[in-house]
Amino acid sequence: MNIHRDDEISRTWFARAQEVIPGGVNSPVRAFHAVGGTPLFFVSGRGAEVVDADGNSYVDLVCSWGPMILGHSHPEVREAVEAAVARGFSFGAPSMAEVLLAEEICARVEPVESVRLVSSGTEATMSAIRVARGFTGRNKIVKFAGCYHGHSDALLAEAGSGIATFALPGSAGVTAGAAGDTIVLPYNDPDALRAAFAAHPGEIAAVITEAVPANMGVVPPAAGFDTLISATAHADGALVISDEVMTGFRVSRSGWYGIAGPEGQDTADLFTFGKVIGGGLPVAAFGGRAEVMAVLAPAGPVYQAGTLSGNPVASACGLATLQNCTEAVYTDLNHVSRAIGDLATEALSAAGVPHRLQRAGNLFSIFFVDSDVRDYDQARTQDTAAYARFFHAMLDHGVSLPPSAYEAWFVSAAHDEDSLERIAAALPAAAEAAARVD
Ligand SMILES: Cc1ncc(COP(=O)(O)O)c(C=O)c1O
Repeated sequence: MNIHRDDEISRTWFARAQEVIPGGVNSPVRAFHAVGGTPLFFVSGRGAEVVDADGNSYVDLVCSWGPMILGHSHPEVREAVEAAVARGFSFGAPSMAEVLLAEEICARVEPVESVRLVSSGTEATMSAIRVARGFTGRNKIVKFAGCYHGHSDALLAEAGSGIATFALPGSAGVTAGAAGDTIVLPYNDPDALRAAFAAHPGEIAAVITEAVPANMGVVPPAAGFDTLISATAHADGALVISDEVMTGFRVSRSGWYGIAGPEGQDTADLFTFGKVIGGGLPVAAFGGRAEVMAVLAPAGPVYQAGTLSGNPVASACGLATLQNCTEAVYTDLNHVSRAIGDLATEALSAAGVPHRLQRAGNLFSIFFVDSDVRDYDQARTQDTAAYARFFHAMLDHGVSLPPSAYEAWFVSAAHDEDSLERIAAALPAAAEAAARVD
């Protein structure tokens, strides 16, 4: 337990960072703006633990925002990466690791017959949209408020994640032209979906949805909503893109698809992946029906490319991670995630803090609200100041949570009984802090 945590070295480095990096960070949510204070600089991670520059150690419930599903510096993954590094870093030519990774993805998610590797989730969703537009010859896309699909222009409208954290409606720098073909609908709202297709028949290229929204906190699809998306889109000739960047290979060996299944005859046409498939190195992917993916260059007219796409070191890291994600790992993840969620709920209830824990498999988040959350408008009613107090008290007691009330908590297969004990010990004081009215 840190309690008297010293963060002088992190502060010094953050001051240096602010001189040369906008806001001192290379991705906004890291800046702690939503919770206040100075972000920590982490210098190492082993298993479920990360250590900051001042030598404080924390149980890590961020896990690099998802990728570290096996815990930090997993020995077999490290070995695979070291072996790949020894062979060379990048060739700009086909390499075997990328084929093996693509085969592993296709084997795990049945509707994915063909898959292209890229370097970030943003690239994956942006490219999937382009494929959908190229395949259908249509321009418009439908997305849901509170779903985050990366930071490409067309997808930033009413996105969750950092956009929610900073209470931005979208982003400066996105032209009306770039966002003009994006129709934003409330999540879990069947009437709004039907109305959008009725208003734009034959114009919508695709509906993109997070398999389970987890960037406004975790908001599972209401019963039948995914089926309705597929049925409505397919009846109009539009495609469905299931964004599994967050859920893919995290909530089951086949991601959310492995839990929800194809929901009858209808399923997504394209899937996007990221995070876990890189195991901590930059790998993401988009894939789907071979007929749809065939529009991509060099086979077809839709251009998409990347100097480091399918990089052999990153692919080796992703492949070793997936190969180690056995059924036993998912059983452990489910157990640990449930245990942590239960502990947090007990502590918050004991302190009288209104909250809702919502989960999708082992992915969960806690909303500081007093009713269930079905969409972005409801998510935004939560008490973010209470979360900020909770977050800092957890940090002071050696537990690192996501620095925003809108993010999911991530567990790894390395979280064990010791991690649970440390979390249990931290929670009462954090719940008391959340309950305190300033
Ligand atoms: C569902 C979803 N899609 C896309 C992205 C973008 O991925 P990246 O940050 O790798 O660009 C994210 C990132 O959090 C995500 O959660």
